[in-house]
Amino acid sequence: MNSQLESLAKAIKRKKKKKKRCKVITVSSGKGGVGKTGVSISLAYALSSIFGKKVLLLDCDIGLGNVHVVLNLRPDKSIRSLLNGEKIENVIQSVKGLDVILGFSGIESFIDFESFESADFIYQLEKVFENYDYVVIDNAAGLNKQTVSFSRIADSTYIVTTPEPTALTDAYAFVKSMYKLYDYSSFKVIINMCASKREGYKTYERLRDSAKTFLGLNLPLVGILPFSERVKECLLKKKLILESYPSDPYSLEIKRIVQLEVGEIIKEDLKEGFISRLLGFLK
Ligand SMILES: Nc1ncnc2c1ncn2[C@@H]1O[C@H](COP(=O)(O)OP(=O)(O)O)[C@@H](O)[C@H]1O
Ligand SMILES: [Mg+2]
Repeated sequence: MNSQLESLAKAIKRKKKKKKRCKVITVSSGKGGVGKTGVSISLAYALSSIFGKKVLLLDCDIGLGNVHVVLNLRPDKSIRSLLNGEKIENVIQSVKGLDVILGFSGIESFIDFESFESADFIYQLEKVFENYDYVVIDNAAGLNKQTVSFSRIADSTYIVTTPEPTALTDAYAFVKSMYKLYDYSSFKVIINMCASKREGYKTYERLRDSAKTFLGLNLPLVGILPFSERVKECLLKKKLILESYPSDPYSLEIKRIVQLEVGEIIKEDLKEGFISRLLGFLK
């Protein structure tokens, strides 16, 4: 019995060593313009500035990358430099306590992405990810090779939609495809640009009910973000809403979402601690 316990303890130790410490979150949507970039930057900033997590923000909205505009970063120092033999570590830029890797804009970027795949781009990234508590990926809208690749390695995918019917239909189509084609189901829903909590919840119910009825899938809601002129204002002024207006309802809801996210991690850690403690006790 003792030797069985010992080998179980060893196996758990090995698993713990192997286990990625980093949690990968992708922020995705069916339709563009629903607020993914704003949400990605806000989540990353809250994780780092409020919860003290080591965060990497990855702008993967290749072709329409705009994280650098909001964060005032050098656009030439981007994923693109990897194609010229630059080391991935040299592509990381630091701002406001966050590490950021930029995608790049321009039509040719879609062609370049093929080269990244052959250069085992995702494998390189995963190695860098190991240095962080969280990686937040600002994904492109819709389903393509790149969004699928990133979502499939993600621990959770935050689906952002607005109450607008087309955004909602496209969000459902994204969830359906990821689930049916890739058996991926770790979604969390954020409804953005809501006139009221009621409108946000009604929108969520439509998405939740379709997913339940047609896919048998549970879609948890994690946040209802209000429409806020301050989001636009901050974008124009290249400021972060959480920094400039920490008490704005948008900022408060972002903090709540992150609290939920971090709380889950704490729960998981406790579970592991409990098993280790149990083994120690039995020994
Ligand atoms: N909650 C919000 N309230 C008001 N405007 C918003 C909100 N979220 C996003 N926006 C605005 O919508 C536009 C698109 O946002 P963005 O984050 O770039 O979307 P995406 O990355 O999905 O294309 C921006 O002009 C942004 O300021
Ligand atoms: Mg964007």
